Amino acid sequence: MKNIDANGHVRGESLFIDDILTKKHTLHAAVFSSPVAHAKDLTIDTSKAAQFPGVERIFTAKDIPGQNEIGGILLDEPLLAEDELHFQGQPIAVVVAESDFIARQARALIEITYTELPVITTAKQAKEQGKFINPARSFSMGDANKAFSDCEHVFEDETFSNGQEHLYLETQGAYAEKMENGCIKLMSSTQGPTVVQRIAARVLGLSMHKIEVDVTRLGGGFGGKEDQATPWAVMAALATHHLNVPVKLILDRHDDLKMTGKRHPYESHFKIGLDKDYKIKALEVEFLQNSGAAADLSPAIAERTLFHATNSYFIPNVKTIVHSCKTNLPPNTAFRGFGGPQGKFVIESAIAKAANKLNIPAWKIQQANLLQENDEFYYGQMASQVEAKNTWNQLNKNININEVEEDINLFNDNNNQLKKGMALMPICFGISFTNTPMNHARALVHIYQDGSVGISTGAVEMGQSVNTKMLQVAQQTFSIDAELIKLETTNTTRVANTSPTAASATADLNGKALLKACHALLDRLKHVAADELSVGVDTIELKDGWAHVNNKQTELAWKDLVFKAFWKRVCLTENGHYATPKIKFDKTKEKGHPFAYHVYGTALIQTTVDCLRGTYEVDSIDIVHDFGKSMNIGVDMGQVEGALAQGIGWMTMEEIAYNDDGRLLSNTLSTYKIPDIFSIAKEINVDPLETEGNDMAIFKSKAVGEPPLMYGIGVYFALANAIKAYNPNYQLKFHSPMTPEKVMMGLHEEH
Ligand code: MTE
Ligand code: HPA
Ligand code: MOS
Repeated sequence: MKNIDANGHVRGESLFIDDILTKKHTLHAAVFSSPVAHAKDLTIDTSKAAQFPGVERIFTAKDIPGQNEIGGILLDEPLLAEDELHFQGQPIAVVVAESDFIARQARALIEITYTELPVITTAKQAKEQGKFINPARSFSMGDANKAFSDCEHVFEDETFSNGQEHLYLETQGAYAEKMENGCIKLMSSTQGPTVVQRIAARVLGLSMHKIEVDVTRLGGGFGGKEDQATPWAVMAALATHHLNVPVKLILDRHDDLKMTGKRHPYESHFKIGLDKDYKIKALEVEFLQNSGAAADLSPAIAERTLFHATNSYFIPNVKTIVHSCKTNLPPNTAFRGFGGPQGKFVIESAIAKAANKLNIPAWKIQQANLLQENDEFYYGQMASQVEAKNTWNQLNKNININEVEEDINLFNDNNNQLKKGMALMPICFGISFTNTPMNHARALVHIYQDGSVGISTGAVEMGQSVNTKMLQVAQQTFSIDAELIKLETTNTTRVANTSPTAASATADLNGKALLKACHALLDRLKHVAADELSVGVDTIELKDGWAHVNNKQTELAWKDLVFKAFWKRVCLTENGHYATPKIKFDKTKEKGHPFAYHVYGTALIQTTVDCLRGTYEVDSIDIVHDFGKSMNIGVDMGQVEGALAQGIGWMTMEEIAYNDDGRLLSNTLSTYKIPDIFSIAKEINVDPLETEGNDMAIFKSKAVGEPPLMYGIGVYFALANAIKAYNPNYQLKFHSPMTPEKVMMGLHEEH
C-alpha cells in the first residue's frame, strides 16, 4: 500500500496548520523573545507596541491564569519569562494583532531592561561551574577499573558531536479557538497531543477535559515537536482564552530556528581496553550533554545515550556516566535517535582510535566484538533474536569487505588528488520508550452502518506513514477494501492520554491497540454471520468483503453483515488498549529489561575526498537492515533513506554555531547547510535481512523510524580514513561534523 497521503501531498491538498481556513475575527500572534542569553531584573514595557494600529493585546507572564510552567519531566521552564532570562530567543511576550505582519512590526516596539549575567554555552563550562539540570546518571556492569589493568591495549580520548536543527518543513504553529463554557480547541502541529492538552490546562488553570487538541498531520517533526510544539499552542490558547476569538500563531523560519532547541551537542571522554585478540574488555565513558537552559526531555535523552553507549557490541566491563549540563542555550530536545546517536558516536570513536593506534582496520575490532545471542546488555537485558552478526555476514556476502578494502587501497596507491575511505557501521537500537509507563496506546474503531470504517488512534502522522500502517492493520484484519476505511485526525477527545508519537514505537503501540479493537469487532460480526447463515461461528471467516463458511464464499457481503449487526443492536464501536508486556526498568539499580526488542543492521560506507579542494562525496552505502517482516517495505525503505540523509547531514555538514553570547550564528539556510540530493550517497543499496520478525512488533514488522539515522555515523569515519590515506600525519579527531573545512585542515596538518 502506498502512503495514503501521497496524492494529497503531490497535489498540495493535504492540510497543515497554515492551510486551515481561519474563521472570521481570527487574530494573529507573534512572539517577542529575549535578545540576551542570561539576565535578571527583567522589566517589560509594552505600552508603545500596544498602541501600534491593529494590535489587539500583548500578553506577558502576568496574564497567565494558571501556572507559568511548561516543564514536562522537571518543572523548570516558564511559558513566558518573568524576571530572569536564560537564553536568547526565550519567549517574553505574545503580541496579538489583526495580521501576522502587524504583530511582527509591533513586537519591535516592546521595550525591556535587565541586568546581564555571565553566559555559559558549552557543556564543559557548565560542568566546571557545577551547573546541572539534575543529578548525573551512571550505568555499569562488571568492573571496568579492574579490567583495564588486565588489558593489553588501553586508549582514551575526547569526542564532540554537534547539535542538529530539525528543519521540519512546517515550522511550529497552532490555531486556537474558544468553544462553549470556557473550553478551548487547539489545532497543533505536535507529536504529543496529550502533552499540549496537559500543559495548556496547567497554564490556563483549567482541567484537561476543557482542552481539546486536534492534529491532522505534521510537515515533519523528527523529535522537534515532541515537547517543543507545546509553548506555541499554549500561547495561542492563552490569547484565545482572554480574547474569545480564534488566534493563530505560526513561527516564521527565523523565529523557529532561534527560539527552539535542537539535538544535544555532547562532549565526552572515553577509555577503551582491548585484549591481544582485539576483544573489547572494558569501556568507560563520561558524557557531557549540553542540555540548554531547561530540562525539556534532556534527562530521558541522557538515559537513552547510556543505553546505547555500547552500540551492537558485547563488552563485559562497562561504566558510563552522563551529566545533563545547564547552559544558556535554548533547551535542547528530542531528535531522531533521542541521544542514541550521541552514545554510538563515542564507542565508534573509541574503536577507531584503537584501530588507528594498533594499525588495523576498525572493522576488524567491530567484527570481533559483535553481540551474540544471550549476551547481556550492560543495563541487564539479555540479548535475544540478535541480528548483529547476521546483518554483518549478509553484508559481507553482498559486498565483500576485504575486496572493497583492497580496491580502495589500490585506488589510493594510484591517485594523488582523490583518496577513498571506507567504514563499517553496525547499529543496534532499543525499541520502547525508555520510560516504561509511557509504553501503552489506545485506538477507537467505529464501523458505520453502511460498512465503512473510521479509525482513531494516538498516532500522529508526520511523514513516516504511520496512518498508512494503521490503515493496513484494519484493512488486513477486516479484509475489506481500503477505500472503506478512513484515518481520523488524532484528537484527545477520541483517544485520550496518549504518549507522544516518538521512540519509533508508534506503529507498534497504536497498531497493537488497533488490532485488538478490530479483532473484538470482527468477533462480534462473525457471531452475527454465524447466526444469519445458521452455522457454527468457528466455520466463519470474513475475507475480501464476504463472509466465508468453511473457506467457501457465501452470499453475505461485509456491508450487509454490518447492517444486519447494527439492526440486531450489536455494538459496532470498540476501544482497544495495548501495553507492552515484559518491559521493566529499576532506576535504583539501573538494571532491567527496558526494550521490547532491538533493531539491528550493518552498513558499509565508501567515500571519496578531493584532496585539493577538501570536498567529498559519499560514493555508496550498502546496508543490510533488520526490518523484521516489513508490513510495508516501500514506506520502510523511505524511512531508511530519509534517516540516512539526516545522519549524513548531522555527521558531515550541519554545523550549529552559537557565539560566546549565546547567539545562534547558523540562523538561516545560507549558514546552516543541510544535505541535498548531491550530499546523499550516489548509490544506496538496502537489503532487508531475512528473519522471522518479532512478535512484539506490529505484524512482526520492526520499528524503523530512528535506527537507520545511525548508519550516517560511518560516513564520519570513512572520511577520516580517506584523509589518513592522503596525510599519514593526520591525527584522528572525533569532532563532528566533518565539514569540508575540517577535511581541508586534516589533509594538510603536520605533526
Ligand atoms: N519521518 C518523517 N517523514 N518525518 C518525521 O518527522 N520522525 C522520525 C521518524 N521518521 C519523522 C520520520 C522520528 S524522530 C521518530 S521517533 C519516528 O519517525 C516516529 O514515528 P514512528 O514511531 O511511527 O516510527
Ligand atoms: N524516546 C523518544 N521519546 C521519548 C522517550 C524515548 O525513549 N522517552 C520519552 N520520550
Ligand atoms: Mo523521535 S526523536 O523519538 O520523536
